[in-house]
Amino acid sequence: MDYLPFLIDLHRQGLRQGPGGDDQSQLVIELACLHRSKPLKVADIGCGTGAGSLYLAKTLNAQIIAVDVIKDFLDELTHRARQAGVEEKISTLTCGMDELPFTDDELDIIWSEGSIYNIGFEKGISQWQRFLKSGGLLVVSEITWTTEFRPTELQDYWTAQYPEIDTASAKIKVLEKHGYSPLGHFILPESCWLKEYYEPMEDRFEDFLLRNEHTQEAMIIVDAERKEIEMYRQFKEYYGYGVYIGKKR
Ligand SMILES: C[S@@+](CC[C@H](N)C(=O)[O-])C[C@H]1O[C@@H](n2cnc3c(N)ncnc32)[C@H](O)[C@@H]1O
Repeated sequence: MDYLPFLIDLHRQGLRQGPGGDDQSQLVIELACLHRSKPLKVADIGCGTGAGSLYLAKTLNAQIIAVDVIKDFLDELTHRARQAGVEEKISTLTCGMDELPFTDDELDIIWSEGSIYNIGFEKGISQWQRFLKSGGLLVVSEITWTTEFRPTELQDYWTAQYPEIDTASAKIKVLEKHGYSPLGHFILPESCWLKEYYEPMEDRFEDFLLRNEHTQEAMIIVDAERKEIEMYRQFKEYYGYGVYIGKKR
């Protein structure tokens, strides 16, 4: 079965395709001491429909290359950038995150919210390091255990989804191993999952199923999303999305 067209249909209308929030993007800017007026070249990798790119374009003096493997998401991003009047600050690139065309020392910032899991945290941060200027910033968010131990049901569920899920201390060690000095880390608050991502998606389920005539693919996707949301509501004290800010040494 080809689920991709259905996944695009469900997620394209979302402001976000994963947990996040503008206030938390602002917190990153503060923790990293980014100056609003300094000209910056930024790649937003796995940008989806562009919540991160749009925020950065509105907030910083940045040229942003918004990268995603799904062109429909980038088309939506372009439309939103026009609506927000920041289209001149954002260009799009349809490309896999493990075949990026950037040159060595080209970027001031690599920004990647909820996306690096597609190639794996360690592979992503190690491959991307060379694209950053010396002293450049890596900002990634990644699902993270927030306790040392957790119920087996939860451990089994998330390990099957993403074997690299780990604690923040382990993630920071991986950053250090690959040439980044940690500048900051925090866990996204619950509102970034529920208000920004899950609840708007739940509101779209009914229309999505109707539009797709309750095909098996559409129902399987909704069931999987419902399961993920249920796991979060039940077990949210054990995991979250960690935001990691590293500076290229
Ligand atoms: C969970 S969404 C996050 C989107 C966005 N950053 C946000 O926070 O709303 C993950 C994104 O990664 C993109 N993606 C998946 N595999 C990719 C790959 N190999 N290369 C580039 N983008 C990819 C998906 O199309 C999707 O837009």
